[in-house]
Amino acid sequence: MSAEHHGGGDVSLTLFSMPAVTEVNPPLTTPRLRLEPQVAAHAPVMVAALADPRSYLYIPGNPPSDAKALQRRFAHQESRRSPDGAELWLNWVVYCGEDALGTIQATVRLAARTADVAYVFGPAAWGKGYAAEAVRAMLSFLRDGLRVEGFAANIDTRNAASRRLIERLGFMQTDLIVGADHFKGSSSDEYVYKLSASAFSASPPIPPLDFPPAGL
Ligand SMILES: CC(C)(COP(=O)(O)OP(=O)(O)OC[C@H]1O[C@@H](n2cnc3c(N)ncnc32)[C@H](O)[C@@H]1OP(=O)(O)O)[C@@H](O)C(=O)NCCC(=O)NCCS
Repeated sequence: MSAEHHGGGDVSLTLFSMPAVTEVNPPLTTPRLRLEPQVAAHAPVMVAALADPRSYLYIPGNPPSDAKALQRRFAHQESRRSPDGAELWLNWVVYCGEDALGTIQATVRLAARTADVAYVFGPAAWGKGYAAEAVRAMLSFLRDGLRVEGFAANIDTRNAASRRLIERLGFMQTDLIVGADHFKGSSSDEYVYKLSASAFSASPPIPPLDFPPAGL
């Protein structure tokens, strides 16, 4: 059943039927960024944007080298659903002007109304708050557009930038998984981070004051 059968517009009402791809993975914008739903045609720009091995230090996998293979993978992902239909697999390509900076992803478990989030940016884009801005927009959409109730992220304990980013968004560490994965010759431990959708604040949090404030 499409959204129109439910009176149109509210994707959350039709989450368990089959809303259109454009409704579950729409274009999003932020003050500085444009988040395009990832499609096969993005493969060449993503091969370039994600070419630096530093983007893969704390995650399995390596820079994509074969645009054709990436194009096939992206085409396969355009269904936005797991083969069993239990999950939405949502992917956006993040642009600043004409520059593709990276990708952000959400795996939405429909029955639980929870989403795992992930992101990879090229080093040229790091340290400018782009990742936080893009992920914040995605969380807002997941909460307000799809009525997701809880977010989670698993992060390698060595990945200081990713931990800082997710903590800035309000996630709290809830677990430590020792030996969570094994890649690039070593075993990795992961922190599990969680954030309830009701606790998520879409506006940037106020940075903590140095205490005592300078000048007092
Ligand atoms: C994780 C990643 C997206 C963060 O990107 P970013 O551009 O640094 O993110 P932002 O600029 O939005 O902010 C990240 C925060 O971490 C801080 N940070 C950045 N690099 C850091 C580092 N090496 N150590 C500690 N903190 C760091 C930033 O100062 C910022 O904190 P602030 O808000 O207090 O200023 C980026 O490092 C990346 O793509 N890494 C490779 C892929 C990856 O590991 N993905 C995550 C898998 S779980």
